[in-house]
Amino acid sequence: MSEAKVTGVRGIDLAVRDLDSSARFYNAVWGLEEVRREQGVAYMRATGREHHVLALHEAPRSAFLGTRLATSDKTVVDALHARACGFGAVVLDAPHQMPSQAGGGYGFSFRSPDGLMQTVSCDVERHDDLIADATRPSKFSHVVVRVANFPTQRDFFVDLLGFKLSDETDGIDFLRCSPDHHSVALAKAQGPGLHHMAFELPNLDSLMRACGRVRSSGHDLEWGVGRHSGPGNNIFSFFVEPNGFACEYTTEMEQIDDATYPVRDARWWRENRPGGGPCAWRMATRRSENLMLARTGKLVEALNDGRA
Ligand SMILES: [Fe+2]
Repeated sequence: MSEAKVTGVRGIDLAVRDLDSSARFYNAVWGLEEVRREQGVAYMRATGREHHVLALHEAPRSAFLGTRLATSDKTVVDALHARACGFGAVVLDAPHQMPSQAGGGYGFSFRSPDGLMQTVSCDVERHDDLIADATRPSKFSHVVVRVANFPTQRDFFVDLLGFKLSDETDGIDFLRCSPDHHSVALAKAQGPGLHHMAFELPNLDSLMRACGRVRSSGHDLEWGVGRHSGPGNNIFSFFVEPNGFACEYTTEMEQIDDATYPVRDARWWRENRPGGGPCAWRMATRRSENLMLARTGKLVEALNDGRA
């Protein structure tokens, strides 16, 4: 395989039923900042330079729409497009300048085998400034996607997009495209859908302050604060946002050296998980029922149907 590969996850796109209330949540509570709104789409940035890390599309039903992926330059975009065509993916357009996209850039879009939109781009506009507030997310950390046809999806990310397998458990495969232990993870469950999305905070103190802001705004902490005793070793805290999606603040994601990192399989993790439970600190023991409904997509559907 050539070296053409994805180098980061810029963010994700969600369909939401009430754009104004969703944008208010992500602005005032979650700590993102709306940078542009047009044609029923609100674009939210983090404190870092990425143009936006979340796009909210007003629609009749809430849904996970897809992922925006970064790569280094036009040559790589063109190479990944050629590979996508050869891979048999549903390629929606040829590489082109994208002035109609917020942040512009050069890229193309295609669909994963589950039908979710993927956009690969380079030369996307970046902010000149950093927002000086450590209690707000600095960047998009990772997206965990529920996938139905699991082996095909993994091949798609590894063989086509150049992701590397970091770790495999009974429930999830963790994939990296940068030193972060995982930027995309595939949950072996009914899909397609969003299992959860995660945003990075600079450190534990800033994460705790961010959690305090969300809780004091009337949103329950559904799981955490804890440190994963499994892949990634990152600190986690889970909430459920107003549309029923599970969202996470995280920090201290394990940084990987490709030359030395040993990929561990599901059996290894069954036999060697530190502490024997999901939290290395043995603090975050119980996930809420609400979070479980959110991660399986049932809460989003219940809200869409007026049942919750
Ligand atoms: Fe996570």
